[in-house]
Amino acid sequence: MRTMKRLSRRERIAAQLADLKMPGALEALDAVLSGVDGGGTTASEAIERLLAAQITLRNSRRLQTAMRSSRLPAIKTLAEFDFSFQPSIKREQIASLHELGFVERKENVVFLGPPGVGKTHLAISLAITAAESGRRVYYGTLADLISSLEEAEAAGRLTQRLKTLTYPSVLVVDEIGYLPVTRNGAILFFQLVNRRYERSSTVLTSNQGFENWGEILRDEVMAAALLDRLLHHCHIVNIRGNSYRMRRRTELSKTIHPTAAHAREAGRSSSGGSE
Ligand SMILES: Nc1ncnc2c1ncn2[C@@H]1O[C@H](COP(=O)(O)OP(=O)(O)OP(=O)(O)O)[C@@H](O)[C@H]1O
Ligand SMILES: [Mg+2]
Repeated sequence: MRTMKRLSRRERIAAQLADLKMPGALEALDAVLSGVDGGGTTASEAIERLLAAQITLRNSRRLQTAMRSSRLPAIKTLAEFDFSFQPSIKREQIASLHELGFVERKENVVFLGPPGVGKTHLAISLAITAAESGRRVYYGTLADLISSLEEAEAAGRLTQRLKTLTYPSVLVVDEIGYLPVTRNGAILFFQLVNRRYERSSTVLTSNQGFENWGEILRDEVMAAALLDRLLHHCHIVNIRGNSYRMRRRTELSKTIHPTAAHAREAGRSSSGGSE
């Protein structure tokens, strides 16, 4: 105690932050205090900055842990998403999903739309926000999830595998509709959806409208029962627009063949700009 008294206030705060295991705040301490000493930062701003630094570090550690176990293929965040490129998406709807009320309420989210419009990006960004908030998340394409269920079934561990896949607060099921599904695969997927129904949130993406899911799952009756469960508490984001991947290609071709691109544009504007 006597030693504590001889320490400066800065040193005492540093010791307290170390004692509370707040390395993020500790690292920000000097910068925050010099902001206060310089007169540019108020006391309440200083507290806020210190706590924000700790929260940022905690969230990035949570994300690192989640990236090891969740099988997320990449880090795609909401901040990186260019809403101006995809005007059919309501920014407020996506921002409100990121508040994670849907996870609390165990509701689902479905992103529908053609290739390259950002379905996987937005689905992953939701999983990342959930992981940063300390929730367990897991990612798989429909084909991956089905093959892991089939393997488990063959090894006599289906119940255990279904249980494991029911555990995450957010499960992303990506790419429904691209690869063919066997009838047994569809039955296994139905069982998974059935188990998660009203227990935890599932975020799905598909390039096909719901009317085609019967064909994808090779059984109209089962698809209807599956959709009945999925859509009971569900947020649907229907994306209509151009592929972001193609935009890059168009830009690239303009860089490689600038004169041809200019000539085309000039031709278009001289013909009145009609598409
Ligand atoms: N509006 C956007 N702003 C920034 N990046 C975007 C946007 N839309 C898509 N992207 C990026 O473009 C690429 C393709 O997007 P994504 O993988 O999300 O498409 P998708 O809708 O899932 O397509 P697919 O149906 O082919 O799987 C990704 O690298 C993604 O990060
Ligand atoms: Mg995708």
